Amino acid sequence: MSVAKKEYKRVTVKTLVDMKANGEKISMLTAYDYTMAKIVDGAGVDVILVGDSASNVMAGHETTLPITLDQMIYHASSVIRAIDRCLIVVDLPFGSYQSDPKEALRSAIRIMKESGAHSVKLEGGREIKESIKRILNAGIPVMGHLGLTPQSIYKFGTYTVRAKEEQEAEDLLEDAKMLERIGCFAIVLEKIPAELAKKVADSVSIPIIGIGAGPHVDGQVLVLHDMLGMTHEFNPRFLRRYLHLYEEMTKAISQYVDDVKTQDFPNESEQY
Ligand code: KIV
Repeated sequence: MSVAKKEYKRVTVKTLVDMKANGEKISMLTAYDYTMAKIVDGAGVDVILVGDSASNVMAGHETTLPITLDQMIYHASSVIRAIDRCLIVVDLPFGSYQSDPKEALRSAIRIMKESGAHSVKLEGGREIKESIKRILNAGIPVMGHLGLTPQSIYKFGTYTVRAKEEQEAEDLLEDAKMLERIGCFAIVLEKIPAELAKKVADSVSIPIIGIGAGPHVDGQVLVLHDMLGMTHEFNPRFLRRYLHLYEEMTKAISQYVDDVKTQDFPNESEQY
């Protein structure tokens, strides 16, 4: 289906709200380094999330919990140097905002000042309301994140679909309305039933960006390394792989090894 797409020179938080109002879907991908961010930005993606999924895909940790604020700032600064058009959202990592609103603000300020990012994302609803308000009061745009919140994995115990039960679904809807009320510019909904995601998207005027939340939301986000098929052991139902780079890269690198061993590389034209 062809969709009306307005050309935005630079995507801002206001652009995203306008996109929702105009019915234009928002595309968001993660990136954690300069080279990938340059490709993502050049390809026309609207929002780059410097996600704490860097803890998994860049550093090889099992969860997102170990990544530090300094490491997030390093990733975010590399991404910022690459972009011309995208809005950049940076995750506040686990442990940098949960203890109290002052610490949350300090962490958000460090990200904005030291990386040059445009906004931050925090996982959670009512339990972190005061921290979000404190950050918003400082003029820093905040994206919320509800549903499956990987920083709380040890509370949930599994990465299965959230908010299937009525009470959890009601709480999530209330949290989304609260995040809109206090001034968040958008919300990520992760791994919840598509019908609930639709209800949330219809109930608020700020954009709802889904990952495993079905098609009736205002935009989609995927982890770049997953959608490019660089990771191959992670296979959730919601993931569409646009390439199979794990296999492609393995083939190319094996070919290089062969070429070095057989002295095929470098050849006459590849030397001085
Ligand atoms: O860190 C991340 O990549 C995320 C997305 C899964 C939304 O938060």
